[in-house]
Amino acid sequence: MCGIVGVVGNPEAQQIVLTGLQRLEYRGYDSAGIASLGAEGQLTTRKAVGKLQALLDEVATNPMGPSTIALGHTRWATHGAPSTTNAHPHTGGLGPNTLTVVHNGIIENYQELKSEMASLGAKFLSETDTETIPYVIAASLAHSADTMAQAVHAASKKFRGSFAFVVMKNGENNQLTGTRRGAPLCIGVAENANYFASDPLALAGITSKFIFLEDDDIATISPQGVEVRDATGKPVERPVKTLDLSTDLAGKQGYKHFMLKEIHEQPAVVSSILQAYTTADTLLPTLPMGSLNLAGVTYINIIACGTASYAAMVGKYLIEQYARVPVNVEVASEFRYRNPPYPPGGLFIAVSQSGETADTLAALEHAKAAGQHILVFTNVTTSSMARAAHAVIDLMAGREIAVASTKAFTAMMTTLSLFALQLAAARGLSAKEISTHITALRTLPNHITNQLTNTKPLEDLANHLTAASSMLYLGRGSLAPIAFEGALKIKEIAYIHAEAYASGEMKNGPIALVDKNLPVVNLATSTDGLFEKTVSNLKEVEARQGQVILITDTEGATKLDTHTRDKLTLLTVPTVPAFISPMVFTIPLQILAYLTATAKGTDVDQPRNLAKSVTVE
Ligand code: G6P
Repeated sequence: MCGIVGVVGNPEAQQIVLTGLQRLEYRGYDSAGIASLGAEGQLTTRKAVGKLQALLDEVATNPMGPSTIALGHTRWATHGAPSTTNAHPHTGGLGPNTLTVVHNGIIENYQELKSEMASLGAKFLSETDTETIPYVIAASLAHSADTMAQAVHAASKKFRGSFAFVVMKNGENNQLTGTRRGAPLCIGVAENANYFASDPLALAGITSKFIFLEDDDIATISPQGVEVRDATGKPVERPVKTLDLSTDLAGKQGYKHFMLKEIHEQPAVVSSILQAYTTADTLLPTLPMGSLNLAGVTYINIIACGTASYAAMVGKYLIEQYARVPVNVEVASEFRYRNPPYPPGGLFIAVSQSGETADTLAALEHAKAAGQHILVFTNVTTSSMARAAHAVIDLMAGREIAVASTKAFTAMMTTLSLFALQLAAARGLSAKEISTHITALRTLPNHITNQLTNTKPLEDLANHLTAASSMLYLGRGSLAPIAFEGALKIKEIAYIHAEAYASGEMKNGPIALVDKNLPVVNLATSTDGLFEKTVSNLKEVEARQGQVILITDTEGATKLDTHTRDKLTLLTVPTVPAFISPMVFTIPLQILAYLTATAKGTDVDQPRNLAKSVTVE
């Protein structure tokens, strides 16, 4: 949430910052800004409200003049509405020192810092917490610090919260200083120039060498090099990693939206996962578990946020059913603050596309401090969560750009299915049964591809749903989490209020909402033994004039009597073993949300108020 780019030592600094910000727009798109220092160290700043294009237009209209140093920011508003005044970079100074800063995260004690700095002469212009940062650093420079690194180190001790920021001292056009705590920040290393960014993607094509900062590291970069100090102020060497980011810049490849492209990438993603994590001959799972003794696992917490938490729920169904190990699934924002008990032999699993979600990361650290074994399922193997884990399962989905997650969700469910089988194997489930499920998983790419070829019935339904103001999604068993994900997708991108319930819970409250205006999406498969029960629930909706939409498999459709069939909108998916139903039923819900959103003309890839990576709590 919020993207940062900083450049020092490159005559193309402004252009690199602007291009980098475009690539970081997934982190927030409420406003954006850039600042640079000219040859005499003089500051120029440009800001604009809205998407990055507005900033590009502003810079094109009002060029900034030559410079080799620049800082930029794309914002997801926390403190203060999106406006040019609240947009970063923020500048503030005390005495001879004026500093300009870009910041991601929240300074939680900003109000007390504001009062303290105001008493020293600070003049605050914005409503942001960020604006305290340059003043606190300037105060450190005035009192005790000789260098920017010392000043940032001293200032950071005063900040509470999780954050990453980069600061530039006006008049000194040869260095930038940055730090992080909780939020991501990396350094791009190159010859005669160096860089800061929230995500290496910002610097693709500029450098392939990156240093990932640890919490409370202070880094100073100049054209000549990089100096990192740890939380105690001691110089440290952090490893330099080489990354190939070429495939991350692939663009939409002819698709109208990234979301549609990512939906279509799902067959390939599932194939890559199966190729990487199953044996070709014996069809057994081979996820890397590090030193974890699977047979000794007695209890599992799976912690995640948003879409990832619904994949975690699917994981729970499968793990408990096949491996018979109790699983707690919980959203990270609750788990992290309730001081949960950790049983001996407990395993903690974090599921996160980005590997940076602040709440999930904090929950992980809590569990790690309590001595739990940490397994992370993530799409970014260089992320903070991956670096903190004992073992990492790469989701292999490739970069996901659309804010609403699709292919990462399918990748999470597929890898968690394999994990359930691997754990079941360690606890004695026969190789024969396991290979039967893996054989089913191997049919998944074809089933997904087939569903992507005829979307006309979904298009008709989507056009109808544009008039809906509210919807219900229902599913049972491992399809209950899919109902939750379906409702989340339509909320996120089509802005239709949608609630999801386990089908059996509908009668305990939500049924009061049912009338002729309420579309109710029911998910039912003929292969899990629950079909008749779900049909009973949809009959209850039908009896109250609700608009019944049934998504079922072709076999299930044949079980409906004509009366029932005539009264509902029927959409079918292929008949598949229950083990892979969650993935198969996900596809029509993704497409339905996509088509409804495009029919309504919303911003599909960057829906209002959201950000892809939530690095604040
Ligand atoms: C944000 C995104 C969601 C995502 C959630 C968790 O809210 O908008 O799409 O599911 O973060 O993200 P993670 O990267 O941890 O999977």
